[in-house]
Amino acid sequence: MTATSQKCDLEPINLHDTDQFAEIQRQRVICGWHYSEQTLQEWKAKQQDGLKSLFWIILPNSTNSNNPIRAGHISLDAYCDPPELDLARADKSVLAISAFFILPEYRAYGLGRRAMSLVEELAIREPYGSINCRSIALTALSKRHIYEEGPEWRGMWERIGLSVPSFSIQEWYEKIGYVSWKEEPLYEEKTLDGGVVTLWEAFMKKML
Ligand SMILES: CC(C)(COP(=O)(O)OP(=O)(O)OC[C@H]1O[C@@H](n2cnc3c(N)ncnc32)[C@H](O)[C@@H]1OP(=O)(O)O)[C@@H](O)C(=O)NCCC(=O)NCCS
Repeated sequence: MTATSQKCDLEPINLHDTDQFAEIQRQRVICGWHYSEQTLQEWKAKQQDGLKSLFWIILPNSTNSNNPIRAGHISLDAYCDPPELDLARADKSVLAISAFFILPEYRAYGLGRRAMSLVEELAIREPYGSINCRSIALTALSKRHIYEEGPEWRGMWERIGLSVPSFSIQEWYEKIGYVSWKEEPLYEEKTLDGGVVTLWEAFMKKML
């Protein structure tokens, strides 16, 4: 793969297929977020309820082969937990992106950007989206955790034993047209010294 090969396709994930279930679990463990058996079973139930559409991000020319190269995955959801109508609605007028992940070896080739553009196309069409879909929304780690000095912000990475990321995910979404409307303290991470640090998330949306 070269830096100019930016193509990818989306293929629905079948969580009833043992191999696909194992692969999503493997990729979620690498992601380090939402990888428990319980979470994946909840995702399966949401899929059955028509509220969650999970896709593999597949490399070109591998869709017809028996072993497609699954470079990552992404989900388009008509629900969120806790519920927030500006993020996702069951009538699909607002849909949320979640579980977006590209395996480290396939990053910075343009696949993530292309996958977002494909999901935006699916959002306004049946069966995964709806012609009534007005916007796509998501939450992303606040760029204050990259740029603002202080133990709660840029300093928190050292406290949880990680290095500061090379780019801000909030800015990554801004570059493709997503606009923040608020920020909230949504998650907590354990620090190396046994404490807790709060992660602020930016709520972002793009009108379709
Ligand atoms: C965020 C993520 C999905 C992006 O996927 P990706 O395929 O690597 O992204 P792309 O290659 O499409 O990114 C395109 C743009 O981002 C920039 N970019 C991507 N990775 C970068 C990096 N490590 N450092 C700096 N810029 C980077 C590219 O330079 C490019 O910008 P440009 O066209 O202005 O030069 C991927 O990094 C990932 O899976 N991260 C971990 C999980 C995560 O953060 N998910 C989102 C949760 S909200």
